[in-house]
Parts: sequence; structure tokens; C-alpha cells
Amino acid sequence: MRRLRVALAFALAFALPAFTPGEAQAAPPLDPAVEARVADLIGRMTLEEKVGQLVMVARSAGSQVPLRQEVRAGRVGSVLSVFEPDDQKALRDSARASRLGIPLLFAKDILHGVRSITPVPLGLASSFDPDLVERTGRLDGEEARRIGIDWALGPTVDIARDARWGRMVDGAGEETLLATTMGLARQRGMRAVGMIAGPKHFVGYGAVEAGRDYAAAEIATSTLHNVYLKPFKALVDDGADAVMAAFHSLNGRPMTADGHLLTDLLKRDWGFNGIVVSDWHAIEELLNHGIAATPAEAARVAFLAGVDVDMNSGFYANHLAAEVRAGRVPMARLDDAVARVLRVKYGRDIAAIADPGPKALVRLDPTPETRALAREAAQKSIVLIDNDRGILPFGPGIKRIALIGPQSAEPNEHIGPLVTLARWDDSVSTWTALAERAKALGIAVDHHPGCDLACADNLGFNEAVAKARDADVIVALLGEQREWTSEGQSRASLDLPGRQQELLDRLLDTDKPVVLVTFQGRPLALSSARGQVAAWLTAWFPGIEGGPALVDILFGDANPSAKMPVSTPRTTGQAPIYLGQLPSGRPYKPGNRYTSKWIDAEPTPLVPFGWGLSYTRFDYADLRVGPPDAAGNVAATVRLTNSGPRAGTEVVQLYLRQMVASRSRPLDELVAFTRVALQPGESRDVSLVAPAAAFAYYDEDARPVREPGRFRLRMGGSSVAPLTAEFDIKPAR
Ligand code: BGC
Repeated sequence: MRRLRVALAFALAFALPAFTPGEAQAAPPLDPAVEARVADLIGRMTLEEKVGQLVMVARSAGSQVPLRQEVRAGRVGSVLSVFEPDDQKALRDSARASRLGIPLLFAKDILHGVRSITPVPLGLASSFDPDLVERTGRLDGEEARRIGIDWALGPTVDIARDARWGRMVDGAGEETLLATTMGLARQRGMRAVGMIAGPKHFVGYGAVEAGRDYAAAEIATSTLHNVYLKPFKALVDDGADAVMAAFHSLNGRPMTADGHLLTDLLKRDWGFNGIVVSDWHAIEELLNHGIAATPAEAARVAFLAGVDVDMNSGFYANHLAAEVRAGRVPMARLDDAVARVLRVKYGRDIAAIADPGPKALVRLDPTPETRALAREAAQKSIVLIDNDRGILPFGPGIKRIALIGPQSAEPNEHIGPLVTLARWDDSVSTWTALAERAKALGIAVDHHPGCDLACADNLGFNEAVAKARDADVIVALLGEQREWTSEGQSRASLDLPGRQQELLDRLLDTDKPVVLVTFQGRPLALSSARGQVAAWLTAWFPGIEGGPALVDILFGDANPSAKMPVSTPRTTGQAPIYLGQLPSGRPYKPGNRYTSKWIDAEPTPLVPFGWGLSYTRFDYADLRVGPPDAAGNVAATVRLTNSGPRAGTEVVQLYLRQMVASRSRPLDELVAFTRVALQPGESRDVSLVAPAAAFAYYDEDARPVREPGRFRLRMGGSSVAPLTAEFDIKPAR
């Protein structure tokens, strides 16, 4: 076997096996017994009962009595955000008492916890640990089932490359492989405990213009297929029960009305047999999109495009039956949509979910086990970005700590933006956790928030700085408040909010070492802090055990292993900046005016994708690339050594670039990764496989092509790892 040993100027030539264009349809096969039951029911349903299965109604603020009557009459198929046990019981009883007794689905967004809240999805993605994410999915599914929720509206697998977009926090960041892997892990975890789950928001929602939520997106066909669609395809192939159509318009067509993508691609080409659900009131929003003139038209357009279930706009309930009667919507399409809903209800045996009982909400308290998982998840999600002066972990020289910043004593801030059943009391703040640990170690801690979360004034700064002056080290907890992230929370600035930068500058002026800990739902452009602070940790929103986990990291009881799932801009004007950018004809050359750059910012990110430090040191050497195996997969191997003083875990990453092709290919793409735990002094060969599919791409007609030519693999602990190897793939014989 010929193997390339180091980054060399010349290339080896490998032949790949013959390429079969097109992807095998892999969506799971239908169950004949379920299909027979579904067909029998459809044969006995009235037109109104059929439409009823396609109607999802959210818990209304007022009386639940009309909703129960609607359910009893067979005019509602699913409900959203109904938690109160009595309401649930009454609704289940109403469904049972309906003419055909078809059970209701109880839906809810569950993105990182029901009550035992783990880090936000972007934080969990930083772990690069799909096993952890699967376990948190399982935990969330179990808690959801215990309170009678059976349909998790997620996971979110939107690729998010523009940090201005508030919903970056909902998903796994900018790279397709990471979003796919984490989405799959979460979906598997939830489905393993009986939840209905599936990806959202189909598709390209993360690419909304200027990062402004609900705005339009324009994505070239090849990019759509190479980047944005892949996570959805993978989750559909893995058995997704439902797919949510996104709010926005893509290339001029609202996703809620995109028959090409919803029906031709998702349902026909991919063989998806589950439910396509609209987003919240998105069918109604077709009026604002200028795609329908009347509610009836909006209902018809969405339904014919392939949206099966109407989330709460009421347009299907009010208009679909009439559209069918008038012959504008074929009965066959209606039967198809109903079959999709019933297939999920009976295929997943939802009818078997017992009423959770009157104490359901009470029984959700975090247990030692769920807390242990939440703490592990937080430890693995917190990214150590800088530690140049080795201040972390704290050693015996630290006798007095100043804990400063508005996030330090706000346990609800640790929980993050995406949770409705969380209880602030369950969350342990950093202040609480640090005070406890410091007491045990005989360390003094002074605490001052400096300002409130909005940090609109500097009235508290003097007092905070006075405490900081007396300390051996300052721990500054700054960043976005939870309410500033997720849906509808796009930002035009990626700076620290309010006057937090001024507070940080005042702390730096004390000349005491500052350990900056940022809470955030997106990367923050902290150029002026980088290099000034002694250490920088990104905590995201770490969940109910975020405080203790952060303290574990500060004192070295946990060794950081997380890596950035997004590129961090130096300044807001760089957004979107991301790993998978296409090359320029004039790549940046310092000093050359006519190359691709900004005149007032470096062309590179502040923190690159995949970056994250450990308290130990990992050395990479001896990159070897083997010839493709029979299936066309190419393995790369590297010698990884823990040359530092502590046990640690490294996320080894493999990136691929196709150097020459008929279309410009991304500058780098993550194609494989793994976590490797090593003791101090231990070395190991670590192999990662660039799968055969990574050597192909979709062209402008959405056709998969594989072209021979030069490729480059990069392997290491981040996307700027120096070890690379180039090789040629020869034309297939
Ligand atoms: C969000 C969805 C969510 C739905 C129901 C919408 O505003 O975009 O992600 O599932 O609300 O809560």
C-alpha cells in the first residue's frame, strides 16, 4: 500500500471505483399492517374528519372547552404546547370519544431539555460528541413522554453561516457534517424512547438575507444540494417522522408553497412518507408573501405544494374541505396527507401512550442522574478559546477571585432561550457554584454584576472594579442575554451588548488577569478582547448545571475538549464568514490592494471553525493517506500525542478540498471527526475516513458528479491545522 507521509508538494495518484450517480432511496419501508389499518380508516372517514387530521391547534389562552369540542367532533388531529395534565386528559378523552377514536398528537418544541436543561444545541454541537447528544435526546424524550408530549418539533438542522441570525443557537452551526451528525444523534435519541421527531426548518432558513429572521434567502441549486439539504436527507433516511417547512422564501418561493422541494424532492425522490408540517401560521403568511390573495387560496397553494399539517393558522380547518368539494384539490392528495398523519399515529403506536396523570409536571424534577448528564454536557460544550498565559486552571497561587458581570448570578441566563418548562430554581448559577467551591478551598470570592443584563448604564462599574482590584484574578461573565438569541432575535451588531465592552475595558485596566467567560447564542466579534484577556471561555448557554461545570473547568476538575462549531467574525461587517466559502480568483495577499479582503479587517475569522484548546497539549505528526478502499472511501491517519501534563480529550478533524473541478469547490469542508482521550505522554495513531460521497458534489442541475483530479486533506485539531496531504484521483477505468 502506498501511503503519503507528510504534506508534500507532489501528489500520489489513486483510482476510485466506478461512480454510480444518484442516491439510493433509503427512507424506511412501510409497514403493511399499519398501511392496512390506515387505509381502512381513511375509507371510513368523512371529508371533515380527513381535514381534521391535518389541523394542529395551539393551546389557547382562554377556555379549553371549544378545543375539546372540536377534538370530539374529529376536527383536530394534533395540539401544540398543551402541558397541563387536566387539559391533556380532557383532550385525550375527547379524541377517544370522537366517532373514529383517532388519538391526538401532543406537540412541543424540545431543543435542549424539558426540565433537566442541557446546553443549547449550538453548545452541544461544540462537544463534537454525537453519543452525548444522543443521550441528551433520550433524556429530553423521556421527560417529554412523562408529561404526555409525544411529538418533538425538531431537531433543528439548519446550516447557519451568518452570526447575525438569531436562530444560529437552535442548531449545530455552519458545517454540513456537524449539523447532520448532531441532528441524527438527537433524532435517534428521541425516537429511541418513542418520540415523534424530525428535522426543521426545510430548507435554507439559515441563509436568510443579512441574517434577518424571516427574510428571503437566495441559494444556488448546487449549494442547496451540497450544503443545506444533506442533513434533512440523512434524517429522513434514518426514519424521521415529520419535516417542518420553513417560514422564509427561497429563491423567490416561500417554502410553505414550494412543491418542487416539498413534494418532488422530499416526498417523491427521497421517498419521505411522514408528515410535512407547516411552521407557525406559515400558511396564513402566504398572504404576506404575496403568493395567495385569499385564505382559501393560501390553504390550497400550501396543500398542493405538499404541506400536510397546518400549524395553527386555521386555514386548512376553514377552507380545505370546500377546496376539495370544488374540485380544486384532488381527494387523492387529501388521502395522501391523512395517511401520512395516521401512519405516524399508528406506526409509532401513539395510541398506547398512557395519560401521564395529574402529577405529571411535578414528577419532572431533575434527578441526580439527569443532573450528572447536564453537567457532563456542559463541561464538554464550554470552549477554551485562549489561555496564552496559562492562568487556567487555577493553581494554588489564586487566593482571591473577583467574579464580575451581569451573567454571573443569573441562573435563568445559564438555561438559555429555548425552554418553556424550565424552572429557574433548578439552575445553579456560576456565583453559587463558585462560592461553594472557593469556600471548600479557602479562597475568597468577591462578587459584583457591574450592571444588569442590558448593561445600559455604567453606574455599578466603579464598585465592580474596586472589587476586581483586590483580586488575584478576575472572572468576567459577559455576553448576550438569553432573550437576545433564537427566534426573531437577529442582531445587526455582534459586539458585547450595552456597555459591557466598557466594563471589560475597565477590568483590563486593573492589570489583573481577566478570565473572560462569554454567554452567547452566536459567535461574538470580540476582537479587542482577544489578546488582552488572560483566557477566554465560550460557555454558550450551558444549562442547569452550567455553573458547576464552569467551575469544574476553572479549577481543572474538567479539562476542556470542545471546539467551535462556527467561525467567529472579527467584526460584524465580516458576516457571513465561514469555513466552506468558495475560493476567489484573487485570494488575499498582504500588501496587494487588488486581492480579496477588507481594508479595515483581516480576511480571516477571529476564531476559526473547529478551534478549541485543552489544558494539555496535543501534537500531530506523520499524516498518512491511504488509497481508496473498494467503496471509494479514503482513510487518513495521524500520530496524535498528548505531550502535556494532563489527561485530555482531543477532537481530531479531517477536512477535504477538491482543488480543481468544473465548479469552484469550498476552501475546506469537514468530512470526519472523532474524540480521542489520551493520558499524558500517550501516543496513538488516529484514522479518519473521508467517505466516498465527499469526493462527489451536486452540479447546477442538482446532478451528483464526481470528477477526477487533485484533492487535499487537512487533519488536526482545528480547521487551520497545518498537516495537509494532496493526492490525485485518477479517472475511473
Ligand atoms: C418556530 C418553530 C416552532 C414553532 C412552534 C415557530 O415560530 O419557527 O421552530 O416549532 O414556532 O413553536
